[in-house]
Amino acid sequence: MKKIVAIGASSSIKSINKELANYAASQVPNSITINVNLIDFEMPIYSIDKEKEHGIPKLAYKFKEILKNSDGIVISFAEHNGVYTAAFKNIFDWISRVEKVVWYNKPMFLLSTSTGKNGAKLVLEIAHSRISRGNPFTIPTFSLPEFNNNFELDKGIINKELNENFRNSLSTFISNINNGN
Ligand SMILES: Cc1cc2nc3c(=O)[nH]c(=O)nc-3n(C[C@H](O)[C@H](O)[C@H](O)COP(=O)(O)O)c2cc1C
Repeated sequence: MKKIVAIGASSSIKSINKELANYAASQVPNSITINVNLIDFEMPIYSIDKEKEHGIPKLAYKFKEILKNSDGIVISFAEHNGVYTAAFKNIFDWISRVEKVVWYNKPMFLLSTSTGKNGAKLVLEIAHSRISRGNPFTIPTFSLPEFNNNFELDKGIINKELNENFRNSLSTFISNINNGN
């Protein structure tokens, strides 16, 4: 069984991005989904001074360990003021201080969703350009606009065209997983 880490890059308990990340991970054949809840990884707001004084928090190492033990990573990004949520950015900053290879060059699938028409595309572009740097795989992306109209928990993505786009990106992710490990 492949282990797929699913991260909704939001600290909201009812996060629509958590739902989408879990759904995407669940679509990988012969896999189990490891849900990562950002609330469980709350750390002080990153600063070089805090790092010098107290070191890197244990939670950052714990987060990295989960990534290391996975076969693939799915992240769905919530957009706050055009960029990452503070919850995600803080974890990203801390884990980037542990070692250079932040995401262990794992196969990744990056998504985003919002209730509005743009589907949090801005943050997805930012994330993709940053996270794909140096990763040996082509990292597929998918943005889902108007989550409440286009997604149902038991059916997944109910808009045909959007679902086709999702399936295309998903198949790239799956073939990267199968070729990579
Ligand atoms: C502080 C704040 C800033 C937001 N900024 C944006 C934004 O820039 N673009 C956008 O599409 N939605 C924005 N939203 C709306 C979020 O997309 C919406 O809350 C969505 O549900 C967040 O995803 P989540 O449920 O996974 O947390 C913002 C919401 C908050 C609370």
